[in-house]
Amino acid sequence: MPKQNLQARGPVDGFLEGHAGLRIDGARLLDRLEELAKIGADPAGGITRLGLSAQENAAMAYLRDLCAEAGLATETDPAGNLLVHRPRTRREAAPVLLVGSHVDTVVQGGRLDGAYGVIAALEVLQVLHENDVDLPVEMVAVAFANEEGALIQTPFWGSRALCGSLEDGLAAEDRAGRPVSAYLAQAGGSPERLADAAWSPGAIAAYLELHIEQGPSLERLGVPIGVVDGIVGRTILDIDVVGEAQHAGTTPMADRRDAMVAAAEIILAVQRIATEDAVCATATTGYLEAHPNVTNTITGTVRLTVEVRDTDPAKLVRGEAAVRSECARVSAASGCAVEARASMRSRSVSTAPPLRDAVRGAADTLGLPHLTMPSGAGHDAQIVALVAPIGMIFVPSKRGISHAPGEDTAPADLVHGANVLLHSVLGAQTAAAERV
Ligand code: GLV
Ligand code: MN
Ligand code: MN
Repeated sequence: MPKQNLQARGPVDGFLEGHAGLRIDGARLLDRLEELAKIGADPAGGITRLGLSAQENAAMAYLRDLCAEAGLATETDPAGNLLVHRPRTRREAAPVLLVGSHVDTVVQGGRLDGAYGVIAALEVLQVLHENDVDLPVEMVAVAFANEEGALIQTPFWGSRALCGSLEDGLAAEDRAGRPVSAYLAQAGGSPERLADAAWSPGAIAAYLELHIEQGPSLERLGVPIGVVDGIVGRTILDIDVVGEAQHAGTTPMADRRDAMVAAAEIILAVQRIATEDAVCATATTGYLEAHPNVTNTITGTVRLTVEVRDTDPAKLVRGEAAVRSECARVSAASGCAVEARASMRSRSVSTAPPLRDAVRGAADTLGLPHLTMPSGAGHDAQIVALVAPIGMIFVPSKRGISHAPGEDTAPADLVHGANVLLHSVLGAQTAAAERV
């Protein structure tokens, strides 16, 4: 049971000072990151550990084993999320301080995106357990399932399920049309009980997530800790371009409805929208599938995904509108039918000022310089932000590389970040207790 000091509404005097010397075990953290990186290691480079795949399941099993060894209790919820708590705590018992991230990756992704935040959360929980630290608001660690949406195309699957915002979850499927329910059963989840994965309103007192920056700012400025003030919103459009498959040698150029050429025009327009036109912060065509994909046949259909991002909701709306209007223009000019459907919309969010202060206080305790900055990447935190206050900590990414095999962070920075997470958990007690 979490020990709730409701009268005091926060930690007793001297709580932070009493634990100022507490540190995570850096060698253990780095070893576990290395072990986890072996699961889903892709012979073609990087890590392919897609959400709800056998590889993500193996990663969750690895986490369960290390928790058992550490004397921590685990539970897999109906959505496939792994929840970890101290044995004396029932996570349903009271609002908790939730801390975590995800362990799935994109295709040929890196070893730290998400995995770092989960391994660090478990490390923090283990250190609190080993030192028998009494928290006024108990901590629960989480490894959210399928954050990336690379296989089952519902990004933030696990955090949405836990926060009650997974609408029509069972309609999700992979690109070959295999339903999510088949994957979920293998992941230890339960399609029949999916709705039960949602926590009751108010069950999360606060949420903290530690993550690599995935961009170049911290490294360029030589600052070890980022205090995240907001996370971008994102809209994903699935676009189908339908032309006519025809003989590449006999069909006159003027008579063609070439879906590949129309798709190429859309791709260039998408690029323009976020560069010359500056409609929104980023616009990316990341996925493309051509049919019949044959050298001597004009392309009949192309499916592509376009995503637009911005911290300003109005610019996000304008970005989507601009992509749709370019689709209409290309359709009229090429004679190809172009249909765009929004498959995901996530809102931009702000982190909670008291949790930013807790992160700054933690960095100050550890003598680490920090920078307040936005996140251009999406995170489970932005889903949790719809139901609870959130805080996020960044550490530098070498050369800003992420979602690619070269993703890396200096070991010392990884250890610093996990210590900042530990002291943020302690420092966030007052903010969290106010919600209890
Ligand atoms: C999440 O990984 C994102 O695409 O930002
Ligand atoms: Mn990612
Ligand atoms: Mn991530």
